[in-house]
Amino acid sequence: MKINYSSEPLEKLKTDLLAIGLFEEEPLHADARKLDLALDHAITNVLKSKDFKGEPSETYILNTNGKASAKRVLLVGLGKKKEFEIDTARQAAAITVQTAISHNLTSLAASVFGAGVKGPTSLLAAAIAEGVILGSYSFKTFKSKKKDEGKAIEELTLAYSDKGELAKFKEPAEQARVLSEIINHCRELQNLPPNIATPEYIGKEAEKLANKYKFKATVHDKKGIEKLGFNALLAVNSGSAKEPRFIVLEHRGKSTSGAPICLVGKTITFDSGGLNIKVGDFMTNMKFDKCGGIDVLGTVAAAAALDLPVHVIGLMPATENLPSGSAYKVGDIYTAYNGKTMEIGNTDAEGRVILSDALAYTKTFKPKAVIDLATLTGACSVALGVHAAGLMGNNEKLISKVKDAAAHTGERVWELPMFKEYNDIIKSEVADVKNIGDGTAGTITAAKFLENFIPDDTAWAHLDIAAVAWTEKGKVKPYYGKGATGFGIRLLIELLKNMK
Ligand code: BES
Ligand code: ZN
Ligand code: ZN
Repeated sequence: MKINYSSEPLEKLKTDLLAIGLFEEEPLHADARKLDLALDHAITNVLKSKDFKGEPSETYILNTNGKASAKRVLLVGLGKKKEFEIDTARQAAAITVQTAISHNLTSLAASVFGAGVKGPTSLLAAAIAEGVILGSYSFKTFKSKKKDEGKAIEELTLAYSDKGELAKFKEPAEQARVLSEIINHCRELQNLPPNIATPEYIGKEAEKLANKYKFKATVHDKKGIEKLGFNALLAVNSGSAKEPRFIVLEHRGKSTSGAPICLVGKTITFDSGGLNIKVGDFMTNMKFDKCGGIDVLGTVAAAAALDLPVHVIGLMPATENLPSGSAYKVGDIYTAYNGKTMEIGNTDAEGRVILSDALAYTKTFKPKAVIDLATLTGACSVALGVHAAGLMGNNEKLISKVKDAAAHTGERVWELPMFKEYNDIIKSEVADVKNIGDGTAGTITAAKFLENFIPDDTAWAHLDIAAVAWTEKGKVKPYYGKGATGFGIRLLIELLKNMK
């Protein structure tokens, strides 16, 4: 999508759809007043009629009938002024693009929603670019009948009357475009069905992205994984007819020296539960169990595409979790890469098993921080629902940096405690640790298991994205739509920018 920048008066902007944001019970801002005048007060009349009140997500379309250069004006509700956040603008932008798509339009323009209310306008402009691009994505690759769909949006014009301010939009908005397009690409990979997006396929996709954005990708096959000694990853893979992969990504920004940041993502391409097979409809969305890994891929790709001055390593342990005659079993004991032993109590708690090797392997990079993302526990969705990822770790400074980044991008996180007493719940009588607890504090005990594999004296943060990595009905946020959300990529990029 191409982004244009215009300081023309709104009534002079040529576009299929011109969106302006309106707050509840607030007068029109000056630019919109001039547009309203050109439209013979059509906007004030709609407001008077109460057909449109400016409530969050509310929309109203006006045909300009040649009275303005835009063919249509879209009123988008921004809700109460005092509740406005940058994410409100991002969401309004997604609603705008979805309206354009449903009307089969190919160009749109947006005034800077909420300008002057919160944040620098350039940040709002970037958020609008993100909202438009993320909001325009939907997963329809396998629909053979394409005729009812809207066309692709080709052009977005960001409109702002102050030329000096407008000049400051360009860099952040372009960065937002690059990032959002990579996120949409990742959402597509995350949405791909498990018969297509196998570990081998994901390895190839990682290599393709590495070629495109100029970062390093090394893909280890089963033999390579055996050589590395990743017994836990091999255990989970043993029930699958498909080979595992262990993918190592690296972006080293210009003039960076010193310790890297390691990102680790759970990449289970399908989680059936294994011998502890999932019952009822619990298997339905388990193609999304690879989302953490793909988020790591997207983050390293975006760090390279944006040329961030950071050194970042991405690790993606990838396998299916399936039952078979050769599958790993309850009661099995395995030794992970760092020499610690684990007893398998449930083959459906496979995420922490594959992550054990990958987290322990970070030691070889001597990282200054390790951050992992995983669709790890159903318990996290019980605790926090779909509105926040679980955040845990061993280092308050790193955790607070994650919180700051999340506040900035609108990807909500919530910290859960890591009291040492929780370790008792995953004690094993026969090994160093067990991969299940007693049914209490499921999200925390999973994180406690992972903690065993973090190299000594290494800052670590863990994001349980089980409930936020995809949406079931598409109603969580307009720019997420239905299916994979790419949750975490914007957050990690923001974090990397702050950790350079
Ligand atoms: N991939 C699942 C977690 C999950 C469940 C993610 C639902 C998203 C939605 C994970 O591998 C799993 O099955 N975890 C078990 C752990 C249990 C056996 C200790 C769970 O949460 O039930
Ligand atoms: Zn599982
Ligand atoms: Zn899983």
